[in-house]
Amino acid sequence: MATVLRSLYFLIILYVSNIPLAFYQDENRFLYHGFNQANLHLGGIAEIHRNGLLQLTNLSKDRAGSAFYRFPLNFNTTSSGATSSLSFSTTFVFALVPQEPNMCGHGMAFAISPSMDFTHAISNRYLGLFNLPNNGLAANHILAIELDSVKNPEFEDIDGNHVGVDVNSLKSIQSAPATYFSDKEGRNISLELVSGNPMQLWIDYDEAEKLVNVTLAPAGLSKPNRTLLSTPINLSQIILGPMYVGFTSATGYAYASDHYILGWSFNRSGQAQSFDVSSLPRLPPRRKRKEKPGLTTITSLILAAVVLVTIIGAAYIIRRKKYEEIREDWEMEYGPHRFSYKNLYKATKGFKDEQLLGAGGFGKVYRGVISSSNLQIAVKKVSHDSKQGMKEFVAEIISLGRLRHRNLVQLLGYCRRRGELFLVYDYMPNGSLDKFLYSNGRPTLNWLTRFRILRGVASGLLYLHEEWEQVVLHRDIKASNVLLDTEYNGRLGDFGLARLYDHGTEPHTTHVVGTVGYLAPELTRTGKATTCTDVFAFGAFILEMACGRRPIELQGQPENVILVDWVFECWRKGAILDASDPRLEGDYVMEEMILVLKLGLLCSHANPAARPSMRQVMQVLDGDANLPDVPYDTASLGTFSNYNASDFLLSLPSSFGQRSAPSMSSTDSILKEGR
Ligand SMILES: *[C@@H]1O[C@H](CO)[C@@H](O)[C@H](O)[C@H]1NC(C)=O
Ligand SMILES: *[C@@H]1O[C@H](CO)[C@@H](O)[C@H](O)[C@H]1NC(C)=O
Ligand SMILES: *[C@@H]1O[C@H](CO)[C@@H](O)[C@H](O)[C@H]1NC(C)=O
Repeated sequence: MATVLRSLYFLIILYVSNIPLAFYQDENRFLYHGFNQANLHLGGIAEIHRNGLLQLTNLSKDRAGSAFYRFPLNFNTTSSGATSSLSFSTTFVFALVPQEPNMCGHGMAFAISPSMDFTHAISNRYLGLFNLPNNGLAANHILAIELDSVKNPEFEDIDGNHVGVDVNSLKSIQSAPATYFSDKEGRNISLELVSGNPMQLWIDYDEAEKLVNVTLAPAGLSKPNRTLLSTPINLSQIILGPMYVGFTSATGYAYASDHYILGWSFNRSGQAQSFDVSSLPRLPPRRKRKEKPGLTTITSLILAAVVLVTIIGAAYIIRRKKYEEIREDWEMEYGPHRFSYKNLYKATKGFKDEQLLGAGGFGKVYRGVISSSNLQIAVKKVSHDSKQGMKEFVAEIISLGRLRHRNLVQLLGYCRRRGELFLVYDYMPNGSLDKFLYSNGRPTLNWLTRFRILRGVASGLLYLHEEWEQVVLHRDIKASNVLLDTEYNGRLGDFGLARLYDHGTEPHTTHVVGTVGYLAPELTRTGKATTCTDVFAFGAFILEMACGRRPIELQGQPENVILVDWVFECWRKGAILDASDPRLEGDYVMEEMILVLKLGLLCSHANPAARPSMRQVMQVLDGDANLPDVPYDTASLGTFSNYNASDFLLSLPSSFGQRSAPSMSSTDSILKEGR
């Protein structure tokens, strides 16, 4: 009854709209000349033009479109006692219009499917019909006739212009190059599917024969006597219940074609009705064909494209390689401290030599500017091949980045690459202190500045030792590790870096790090760095500042080789000011100079317990505590002298305050839970 009503309804529409033979449909057969009133379900980019032309895909690349008859057809189901037939006959007129001659992609298919939802199917060689996971699965229950304009080796396509019979897979059961049998000429004639010209395809299946017959011909010709394909298929294994019939279509990644359906006829009881060709919608006017380029032009174009692609590819790989860095999962939490290699590379103009600020035992330091923030940075490039301990080291670096003191060079972050570690610091415009002390070209720092610098360094070191949440040992205090900011304030740099040596070599072996002349005698003996060994180095440093001499000077008189010994000698002779830097030409505050020289001697004491703590050093420099007497015993001073503990301890003034013997050691970590 419903069927009759629907047919009646359509006949009325037919009559009212006065479109002769425009369409006719019922559940088992329909005929569409154009699709304006058709019961189609469209998917993807499929659309129906105003003239009724169905466009499945257009020139948008890598897209899919589908159009299915909205009502399921009751194939293979038993209704009122009789099993319905699997036989069907269908024919449609299509046109595949290429983007340009020889530039087409990808293809389309007629499909019988249990579903008309193809949203998960993909474009390109999958024709909007399947996707990677479901292609080839028996569970698909899809029969398709593909019109394929690209040869895909993956699906064993025979060529780039074929018709194939597909069951559940894009690997055709049988396929044939597009040809049609000319009854008149009695031979097969080739057709180019993507010629832009309308063609007609017939698909017939007879349940008894179990043959899928596919026949192709240019539109307007009657059905040829010979089929293009006649493929034996037992459809009862594929078609299980209600099925949808329709089309899917896809464009390629590189090329696209307009895929049109002009008319469609379907019949489950007998031959599909033929079209009145004149009633089919017209195709849009053809794009102006460009002057067909000659073969040489095409060849050179392809060559140029290949060369271009190669160059771009190579450039991309080189670029990738150039900015390659190492990032591991555990670094996630350090995100804000992590600099990208690309940024550092750009900031330092590719680590150019002209950006070089200095080179030391740990590596080279480059100057740079982060363009986005105009931040001036110094990037320390450290060779570091060891993976071992890297995690702990970075954790410590980040921890050190939290240190905030006006006399410390701020560590901003880091970056890692294979074999290289980059530490990013605040840029110190005036460079390192040693250049001012020893370079003849530069103006000598006056005493006021020197005193402020050494006081600042003392303050920074006190912060590291006692005022932060953990005890941080510097381990390499020396003039070249003191940097000067714009106001000539001294700032300690490179703290914690000594750890690199531990990480870079075998773990659990202790390496004495530091610089000769600044190394406390017990450090070379035990290998244990402590706050006392830092104090020793600080002593050497302030003597350097006062005397304008390196701790060990290999030129000159043999007795003057070791600075401490020489200063001590001067002091014993009652002429300690003889040790002051001659370049100051006596222009200094005498009390301060004497204080610094004596403090330097005290810090350089061979017995670690005899050295003051940094807090005491600060008190002395600030005038809050008196300088304890320096013992007369030469033997207790100097790096290479014999050491007699009891002699010295007895001479320590009680006013200096009680101090527990130093127990801090750091062979395992620069950071110690100390307070
Ligand atoms: C193709 O069709 C889609 C959907 O109608 C549209 O968004 C897109 O712009 C079309 N592409 C071209 C090249 O016409
Ligand atoms: C299919 O083609 C074969 C010959 O190729 C023919 O014998 C058979 O009748 C055709 N069947 C249909 C349903 O057209
Ligand atoms: C076709 O498949 C059905 C269902 O699997 C089976 O019963 C029938 O025997 C098959 N026919 C042929 C000719 O193989």
